[in-house]
Amino acid sequence: MSNVWSPQPIPHTDPRGGLPSRVRVYEVGPRDGLQAEAATVPVEIKAEFCRRLVAAGVTDLELTSFVSPKWVPQLADAEELMRRVVSDPATALPESVRTVVLAPNQRGLDRALACGATEIAVFVSATETFAQRNLNTTIAGALRSAEPVIAGARAAGLPVRAYISMAFGDPWEGPVRLDAVVAVAERLRELGCASLSIGDTIGVATPGHVHALIDALSTAGVPTSALAMHFHDTYGQALTNVYAALTADIIEFDSAAGGLGRCPYAKGATGNLATEDLVWMLHGLGIATGIDLHALASTSRWIADHVGHPCPSRVVTALAAAGRD
Ligand code: HMG
Ligand code: MG
Repeated sequence: MSNVWSPQPIPHTDPRGGLPSRVRVYEVGPRDGLQAEAATVPVEIKAEFCRRLVAAGVTDLELTSFVSPKWVPQLADAEELMRRVVSDPATALPESVRTVVLAPNQRGLDRALACGATEIAVFVSATETFAQRNLNTTIAGALRSAEPVIAGARAAGLPVRAYISMAFGDPWEGPVRLDAVVAVAERLRELGCASLSIGDTIGVATPGHVHALIDALSTAGVPTSALAMHFHDTYGQALTNVYAALTADIIEFDSAAGGLGRCPYAKGATGNLATEDLVWMLHGLGIATGIDLHALASTSRWIADHVGHPCPSRVVTALAAAGRD
């Protein structure tokens, strides 16, 4: 009998009816993954990280943020990274790769456009406390700041993705009401955002809550095709929540290589859902991602050396252990 674990472990594939045949894995490693690391990763390593992610099959990649360098010093090199991976033809990523950058205000948009950005992400909180902590404003103030960013990006022909953070729970305010999230989503859609990424910034969501929020958004007229889910894995619920969202027809999921990342202004947050853990489950369900799991895990082990600690991903850890046997 052949050994399915040799030479490298792969998930046994057992498709389930009713699930999509393919999903978009939206890789946030270079941005969310690195924005709160104690070590500031040199820009040439970030550029190489992006290249290795793309070589592993990533097609949707969040590169960096054009935020205040006083607030997020780890991403102060946004212009130089963009030069290396977007605007310099000698080193740019293939044009087929969707690249996205965050911009919280007009200044951020101007910087992003000057660097040749092709898609913008804005970020707004569903709670007042996090709006204050993360953007030094209110929910209404964040929406007001986002308005010219969305309008300016669209006028330049760029699609806009919008994050709604603290969509499930907030470390200061507790559980978040569905209607609070729906109200922010409706406003972002009115302003012209093409897609909304629903952020479980502190990883507290559970599958019933995921269904309830997707249902509430659908009832308010937000199509599931316009939604992505952004789960942090703080309480170990991220994959379960992805499965719930898959059964509700969501086909875009945010994750970070190795499971790195968190928002530095979100009390108690830990890493994103690891892309390897996500891909293992999706491939096991027979859902295509285009990602080479082993190339990705190798990339995550490589970037872990540069951030100075092992990746939290269970799959990266397990593959490394299996490779040593
Ligand atoms: P502020 O201090 O209220 O604003 O910050 P300000 O207008 O007084 O600006 C402060 C300084 O920053 C000034 O410089 C500005 O010029 C400068 P100074 O005069 O002191 O020398 N500045 C900028 N510089 C460069 N680019 C800009 C920019 N804007 C102002 N775009 C501000 C307000 C929005 C700037 C600040 O709060 C900020 O940058 N916040 C970003 C926080 C952040 O990036 N958090 C992480 C991303 S969100 C996240 O991780 C969650 C997510 O993953 C989803 C989820 O998990 O739920 C997306
Ligand atoms: Mg996040």
